[in-house]
Amino acid sequence: MKPLVRLAQLFGLPTSKTSPPPNRSLERHIEHQIRDLPEQYLPGIGIGDFIHEGNDLVCLLESVGGLHHDDKVLDIGCGLGRVAIPLQRLLADGSYDGLDIVADIIRWNTINITGVSPNFRFKHLDVRNSTYNPNGSLDPEYVTFPYPNESFSFAFATSLFSHLLEEATRRYLEELARVLRPRGRALLTFFLLN
Ligand SMILES: C[S@@+](CC[C@H](N)C(=O)[O-])C[C@H]1O[C@@H](n2cnc3c(N)ncnc32)[C@H](O)[C@@H]1O
Repeated sequence: MKPLVRLAQLFGLPTSKTSPPPNRSLERHIEHQIRDLPEQYLPGIGIGDFIHEGNDLVCLLESVGGLHHDDKVLDIGCGLGRVAIPLQRLLADGSYDGLDIVADIIRWNTINITGVSPNFRFKHLDVRNSTYNPNGSLDPEYVTFPYPNESFSFAFATSLFSHLLEEATRRYLEELARVLRPRGRALLTFFLLN
């Protein structure tokens, strides 16, 4: 059993909602998106099976985070569409905005995901990170997310905070609070060292 599904079960949460009927044309586009993933960027996304991990994370967003089909969603450190690709199935009436610091990944996502699902948009933040964007022009502690206050009803970040130090984490949480609406929800993953 997948670890994230097991985690949802441990909390006594349902592991999936009733799925909408498959949209054949979207499924064909998703097949192409997966087939055309630029392999050189996959190692930076993390270990595990890209497709299964992505599906599991969407399941977690629904079951633990309470994500709905009409939410306005922000994905901080979105990477190469591991979550955005399967999320196209769910977010038919909402919107998705992904932020990342790797310009080529944002370009690929925009061509391949926004090109199919215009309610999915991506923005580049030129933030410095020794692994992902060593020549970035901004320090993460001074980042301003490029969105007005209270833009989103739901936000998430998967495997982002393991790449930020304390001051940057504080700044990202402040920005997250600013762009979330009152009663907005966020699901963030962290490493727990116990
Ligand atoms: C391990 S990957 C996870 C990607 C995606 N969240 C997923 O679950 O597939 C970490 C991502 O965080 C991005 N990242 C690193 N530092 C960042 C920062 N300061 N602000 C935004 N994104 C950042 C990287 O470019 C990379 O795409």
